[in-house]
Amino acid sequence: MSEVVSYELKGNIGVISVNNPPVNALAQVVREGILNSIQAAQEDASKAIVLRCEGRTFIAGADITEFGKPPKDPGLPIVLDAIENSSKPVIAAIHGTALGGGFEVSLACHYRCAVASAKVGLPEVKLGLLPGAGGTQRVPRIAGVKAALDMITSGNPIAACKAHTMGLVDEIIEADDLEAGAIEYAKGLVESGAPLKRIRDITIDPATIEADFFANARKQLARRARGQIAQDKIVSCIEAAVELPMDEGLQRERELFRELITSPESAAMRHIFFAERRAAKIKDLSKDTPVRDIAKVAIIGGGTMGGGIAMCFANVGIPVVMLEINDEALQRGKDIIRKNYNITLQKGKMSEDQLEQRIGLISGTTDYTDISDVDLVIEAVFENLELKKEIFAKLDTVCKAGAILATNTSYQDVDAIAEATARPQDVVGMHFFSPANVMKLLEVVRGEKTADDVLATVMKIGKKIGKVCALSRVCYGFIGNRMLGGYGREAQMLLMDGCTPVQVDSALEGFGMAMGPLAMSDLAGLDVGYKARQGRTDLPDDPKLYRMGTLLVEMGRHGQKTGSGFYKYDPQTRRRESDPEVEALIKEEAAKLGIEQLEISNEEILQRCFYPLINEGALILEEGIAQRPSDIDVVYVFGYAFPVAKGGPMHYADQVGLKNVYDKICELRDRYGEDYWKPAPLLKQLAEAGSTFAEWDKNRSAG
Ligand code: 3HC
Ligand code: NAI
Repeated sequence: MSEVVSYELKGNIGVISVNNPPVNALAQVVREGILNSIQAAQEDASKAIVLRCEGRTFIAGADITEFGKPPKDPGLPIVLDAIENSSKPVIAAIHGTALGGGFEVSLACHYRCAVASAKVGLPEVKLGLLPGAGGTQRVPRIAGVKAALDMITSGNPIAACKAHTMGLVDEIIEADDLEAGAIEYAKGLVESGAPLKRIRDITIDPATIEADFFANARKQLARRARGQIAQDKIVSCIEAAVELPMDEGLQRERELFRELITSPESAAMRHIFFAERRAAKIKDLSKDTPVRDIAKVAIIGGGTMGGGIAMCFANVGIPVVMLEINDEALQRGKDIIRKNYNITLQKGKMSEDQLEQRIGLISGTTDYTDISDVDLVIEAVFENLELKKEIFAKLDTVCKAGAILATNTSYQDVDAIAEATARPQDVVGMHFFSPANVMKLLEVVRGEKTADDVLATVMKIGKKIGKVCALSRVCYGFIGNRMLGGYGREAQMLLMDGCTPVQVDSALEGFGMAMGPLAMSDLAGLDVGYKARQGRTDLPDDPKLYRMGTLLVEMGRHGQKTGSGFYKYDPQTRRRESDPEVEALIKEEAAKLGIEQLEISNEEILQRCFYPLINEGALILEEGIAQRPSDIDVVYVFGYAFPVAKGGPMHYADQVGLKNVYDKICELRDRYGEDYWKPAPLLKQLAEAGSTFAEWDKNRSAG
């Protein structure tokens, strides 16, 4: 028997214990251990078998690190067959999270019991996969086709009590000790002569499914999860659960699972899974770096960002004081927070009590002495360096020793802000993304003097408030906004060279971006970029550069908020429509500048928009602004809605081939000049060596 799985007879109940930290993933030794234990239990005096786990969770799924490597016996289906065909009832005892293959193991058991705090789920879709060990065949058989489709295509876990009402869990164990509770439950089953309940024996009556149910599901999913191929295959599997006998359904599921596991989409999504976890680790900080206690937070500025940030903390029960310039601004900020919570309430995602409780955690003030006791301050006032420095100088005088002083600045120099205090070691950037209560990314900006324990604390609190954290050093725009420069520039340049706004945005949306860059500029407000450009002295003196963005603002077309920008917007629905006036203006302006309008392919649109991102990413890596290429991918997927199925810009570049990216950049340089297209030395070096960003990172980490 393998070390990580043990088997023991306790009275007349055989207990299989899995112990494979950190999450009891179904590595080969675990599969083998369970199989051997089930076989051993068939021969001994046990009357029933409990399958349980040590540590923080029940089996959280297949071992993702094994994917892409040659499969090792025994495969999971063989283990599940052994469980299902056991002559004695097998009872899964669930705590923590029974996910993916872990939940599928439990579904092959004859009974499932769980503690109330447990969750069960099939998150494979989040890795570009489908449940490959019977999940698509067993869940519809016990919970119904609709519930199965929702559960498997969303990938979201379900709390044990809800799973109980859905029939996915048979018993909630109230006892503090799950093992003891599960043994009692097993004994009860034995005493009552409970049958060997096999989910495979249930058949679904096809007549109970509406004729167009699957066709409608496919249509909806194609809209919701653009560019992701797993959803459609999940629908096929659930269809098979209705139409085919169990073994044929399982075979269908296995075939489609195999197709997905070798797909570039799944490889990209698995890359992001591990990238997210790596990004949380700071290379030169040891795991046991102490962290400061964060029991109370202050936010300076209750505008768009401040309000959203306050909600993030209130949502996890941390009290927040919001400091504003005057009572009126404070009230405005509080009203927006209430309005946002009300939307959540109306969607049924929050109760009245929860709403009041969270709002109750957010107090307001206009007086700095009210924030003298907080552990963390996050400044989110106007984007103005002098103002920010003034505020940090004031914070330095009022805040208690050891308080962390963070700025949410998008572009300003965090070191200059830190120097306004006598405690630069306590100053750090916490760059949230708008809307702050929704967007998952938090860029943690490490100043020259930021203390290690400040960084460790901010990474930890970031995770606590549900953010995905990535570390950046100080530079203009940090990782994300700095890289965005060339992307936005080229989207506009393409107009002068012959594209319509619809063509540019459709190409990028077809790639999987949630919204094209021109529509996005309309949403953010064209005046924002216009004002930002006015302060810049580093831009080339080129009448072509941002010509349309500038003209539209000067015409009063500031984007969605004025009803028109690159597009016009229906006042009621806010739907965007192409505007012949803008298209004519583009042609007119190009003619004025003597630019020939050409046919530009979608491929070239993607190259011109994404390759500047990749090139800047390479510079950011060389300069040590980002720790790793995969951190940049995390920033783009979680902060800028880069399609997860493409794995982020650096992973995408590796897939396209760095030589191809480099050659195209050189071609564009020869066409448009070095002001815009100058290959980064690292990109050149890797392209010439036939290498990738991932390989470069691996060699560097090993060296
Ligand atoms: N395989 C391999 N490693 C895994 C893993 C898995 N399934 N799940 C988590 N890990 C690793 C993480 O990479 C991390 O490693 P690190 O410490 O070296 O960074 C460590 O376990 C801890 O993970 P988290 O930091 O995510 O820990 P949390 O406590 O925050 O979350 C969790 C725990 C909810 C279980 C979360 O890790 C998770 O969601 N895991 C993935 C679950 C999943 O997707 N399962 C389905 C796999 S596919 C499958 O089962 C196919 C089947 O149908 C055939
Ligand atoms: P905003 O204009 O919506 O809010 C700023 C708030 O600060 C206003 O309510 C104002 O009354 C208050 N304020 C100004 N001076 C103050 C002072 N001296 N003391 C207390 N409060 C004061 O601005 P927004 O969009 O919330 O941006 C705030 C910061 O967040 C900026 O640094 C910005 O660059 C950054 N940021 C903005 C993002 C966005 O998409 N809006 C995204 C990420 C960062």
